[in-house]
Amino acid sequence: MKKLAVAALILGSFSGGAYAHDAGEFFLRAGSATVRPTEGSDGVLGSLGVNVSNNTQLGLTMTYMATENVGIELLAATPFRHRVGTEKTGDIATVHHLPPTLMAQWYFGDANSKARPYVGVGVNYTTFFDEKFNDTGKSAGLSDLSMKSSWGAAGQVGLDYLINRDWLLNMSVWYMDIDSKTKFKSDGTVLAAGSYSNNVRLDPWVFMFSAGYRF
Ligand code: NI
Repeated sequence: MKKLAVAALILGSFSGGAYAHDAGEFFLRAGSATVRPTEGSDGVLGSLGVNVSNNTQLGLTMTYMATENVGIELLAATPFRHRVGTEKTGDIATVHHLPPTLMAQWYFGDANSKARPYVGVGVNYTTFFDEKFNDTGKSAGLSDLSMKSSWGAAGQVGLDYLINRDWLLNMSVWYMDIDSKTKFKSDGTVLAAGSYSNNVRLDPWVFMFSAGYRF
């Protein structure tokens, strides 16, 4: 009986002290994801000084640890919604997008470290939907807004801090290269009548604060 208790104590303290990003494990992290565009554009939108608002949504990342140092991570989120405006007109449109991002990551330290800083490189795909001019845009004679989806590179730094073997706190920052060919029409009210095609850069920083669970 005494031996069993000692064994349980040893096992308990061992598992309590062991933090693990071991090969073959999954981490699911959920928290706030904020997209902060560093926007710009060529063409008429660029000359008007395009600006795009920040937006925060629910972010989810799933990481598979291929080794105790190499992770593969997918970022998903609820749809982001941005107001698009120009310096001269104020907000003229709203757009929605989803930016799933796949990263190859390197975790510093070893599987038993409580803090695991990491860096990642990968690829972002962003699809836009519900692109619409608002009343200001419509009264300026603008219509038929459409934004093409974007493929681009992404970079990341992050930190997992393990509270115990199963739960962690995380902060992570991505830089994503997101550029979209943006088309719209003008009836001549403000801009010369015609169809316009501009390359709009979002190139955002994405900040995520989350709690994570190990599977
Ligand atoms: Ni770019």
